[in-house]
Amino acid sequence: MCNSAEVLIILQHHEPDPFGTLSQQILTRRSIRNFRAEQVPLALVDELLRLAGRAPSAHNRQPWRWVVVHTDEGKQRLAEEMGHEFHLDLRRDGVPEEKAAAMVARSHERIRGAAVVLIPCLTMSEMDCYSDGERQRCEWQMAVQSVALACGTLMLAAHARGLGSCWVCAPIFCVSTVQRSLALPTDWEPQGLITLGWPADEGRNREKKAIENLTLYR
Ligand SMILES: Cc1cc2nc3c(=O)[nH]c(=O)nc-3n(C[C@H](O)[C@H](O)[C@H](O)COP(=O)(O)O)c2cc1C
Repeated sequence: MCNSAEVLIILQHHEPDPFGTLSQQILTRRSIRNFRAEQVPLALVDELLRLAGRAPSAHNRQPWRWVVVHTDEGKQRLAEEMGHEFHLDLRRDGVPEEKAAAMVARSHERIRGAAVVLIPCLTMSEMDCYSDGERQRCEWQMAVQSVALACGTLMLAAHARGLGSCWVCAPIFCVSTVQRSLALPTDWEPQGLITLGWPADEGRNREKKAIENLTLYR
């Protein structure tokens, strides 16, 4: 596991290597879940999207699409409609009403408390088509991997500009609700959401596993 002191050693070890700045950004990024009330200029969001668009993608098809939810009304509608479905799921799972309501309220707060909510979507419209299901599933997986790489790139770029972000998985549990709420083209498949804003705290320093326990050398 890697604690703060070890991160510091890694940072020192990396200086003055030419990748020091990038390594530093990678090592200091945290998921940020609490934001200050200030706006994030849309020009800055656009810059992050352009940087995200430099990510590698399968066949360079760039299957990512983005929805920038920045208005109070847009965030409110998204929070309410996703929250409604979340509540139904929780009740179906047997979660007591009081607890379910608290969890839904927390998810509303997460969305409304972010300056911008980005919805990364996947489209298969320019990916290859196969007649058999197995290869088609592989092609879809390549699109998922490509969108995730763009999201990771975007989150690092956001951090480098002093913005905080957190990936929230909720939309993949209610794809059609999100599509309807945001009036998305039918081929845009929401992959999650990324809350974005000026950090109100530093986030938690989550322990990371040691690579020697995760890696095989052959
Ligand atoms: C695919 C994916 C789904 C995630 N879903 C959520 C989520 O629903 N809610 C949340 O608070 N964080 C979510 N996270 C953030 C992780 O909890 C976080 O990345 C992890 O705890 C490590 O912390 P760090 O990002 O600060 O290194 C998600 C991250 C990923 C990559």
